[in-house]
Amino acid sequence: MSDDNSEPTRTEDVETDETDGFSTSLEETAIGDEEPSQGLFDDLLSGEPIFENKEVLRPSYTPHELPHRTDQINKMATILVAALRGETPSNILIYGKTGTGKTASAKFVSKELESTSQKYSVPCDVEYINCEVTDTQYRVLAQLANKFIEKNEARIDRKVDALEDRLEALEEYHEDGRSETTDGSPDDADPTDDVSFATDTEPQSTGSPVETEGSTPSDDDTGSTHPLASTPFSDREAVEDRIDALEEDKESFQEVPMTGWPTDRVYSVFFDAVDYDERVVVIMLDEIDKLVEKSGDDTLYNLSRMNSELENSRVSIIGISNDLKFTDFLDPRVKSSLGEEEIVFPPYDANQLRDILQHRSDVAFKGDALSEDVIPLCAAFAAQEHGDARRALDLLRTAGELAERSQAETIVEKHVRQAQDKIELDRVVEVVRTLPTQSKLVLFAIILLEKNGVHSINTGEVFNIYKRLCEEIDADVLTQRRVTDLISELDMLGIVNAVVVSKGRYGRTKEISLSVPIDETEAVLLSDSRLSNIDDVQPFVQARFEN
Ligand SMILES: Nc1ncnc2c1ncn2[C@@H]1O[C@H](COP(=O)(O)OP(=O)(O)O)[C@@H](O)[C@H]1O
Ligand SMILES: [Mg+2]
Repeated sequence: MSDDNSEPTRTEDVETDETDGFSTSLEETAIGDEEPSQGLFDDLLSGEPIFENKEVLRPSYTPHELPHRTDQINKMATILVAALRGETPSNILIYGKTGTGKTASAKFVSKELESTSQKYSVPCDVEYINCEVTDTQYRVLAQLANKFIEKNEARIDRKVDALEDRLEALEEYHEDGRSETTDGSPDDADPTDDVSFATDTEPQSTGSPVETEGSTPSDDDTGSTHPLASTPFSDREAVEDRIDALEEDKESFQEVPMTGWPTDRVYSVFFDAVDYDERVVVIMLDEIDKLVEKSGDDTLYNLSRMNSELENSRVSIIGISNDLKFTDFLDPRVKSSLGEEEIVFPPYDANQLRDILQHRSDVAFKGDALSEDVIPLCAAFAAQEHGDARRALDLLRTAGELAERSQAETIVEKHVRQAQDKIELDRVVEVVRTLPTQSKLVLFAIILLEKNGVHSINTGEVFNIYKRLCEEIDADVLTQRRVTDLISELDMLGIVNAVVVSKGRYGRTKEISLSVPIDETEAVLLSDSRLSNIDDVQPFVQARFEN
């Protein structure tokens, strides 16, 4: 798998120079009667550290064990084992809410698949793509094309090495005074090899006689048997030709640039790269809904019809999504092809989250750094948050950091509650910070009204203040209808709460209130340079009462 999720490397083997390293330089800095330090860090260091290995609680860490996902993992394995038999596995669609272990399980399974395929020398490649990052057809295809080109090059290098070993063996064989030809000895050679070698005229099929020619000569080969005995090659020249052909193939691969080519050219390079060798290819598209949302279903359409055109290889797709609704936007053919098998990842309940946290905390924390109620509370909070293991782990890590910062010896309930508030506030800050300017102005208008003690704010009032704010910073003024939409969006993001109330014969209106901490939110808005230019907002709000 190409996506690198390797464990944190330790720095054990850092070399220190005993003679003129640390000790001397410390003495030097201590020259004079000045203290070498004023103890800025001493207090912090003296507190008993809480963490043994904090990395284990980070999202980037891939756990070796995934409790409560055995069923899902086994189901994936049952489907994918086909790849190890040289058959095409069904496509799989995996879905479940965020933090239900989809990515972790899929990566676990693909690692196992790749290592087993190596163990039994079955050609099988898994490619992982996160479509939240790689979110257009061009980028997905380009990334895949380049990955497979890389793999093909590596394969060619291995084959050439093996062939060169054969040549060397041949050399030695001749030095021992034997004859050039294989003197009819390839009885033990697989007859199909000869066939495939004989038909090996097109560059397409250069990959066919792979496994035999790729194997390194055994002792047997260098001994009495002719070194080319169990190969499809009749003589030295044939081996050399083969090496040349492989090198030529390698030269012909052209990496796809990250922009600029027409998409069909990218597709065709990708197609050829996949088809270069006989193998089963599993393409894992994580956050596949993001790809469909951003660029439609062309990529999936192209990938799912590939198998009918591939000659040497087979492709199987695993799509991973946080919700199933995206399939409504798929071409029916794509939908049925992608959803051949579906695996659901249900939310974890509080007990399951406890197990997950317990597994990790044994490694993450020092002996008795955790008080008893911490894990159950983290689990309970995260279970309310749709059973999200990521949230549970964040809570536990943040609680630990807060405890560490306050120099507590153990993490207690209080730290978990603080962590919960901090994470929630961080979320709000991030959401508000990344709002488009127009939404920020609408939100700012709501904040100004609240700060002036206006309750049950309605859309018209928001619009009036919003308009003045726009004029103040020379921004376009949207229609009241658009502003109403923006208010609904803020509602969906959980930043404001807008309820529709009936005003009898005056129709219906929205009553809007802020659902996030007002001062922090205002501070985030004012950190936007455009909004911070509005000096005195008081008159606008006054004006509301004059209207
Ligand atoms: N069953 C589990 N056991 C241990 N850790 C888990 C488990 N499920 C999820 N996690 C952890 O929770 C976090 C979120 O999981 P992830 O697989 O990224 O969720 P998803 O892809 O469904 O959003 C990751 O850090 C992952 O290691
Ligand atoms: Mg994921």
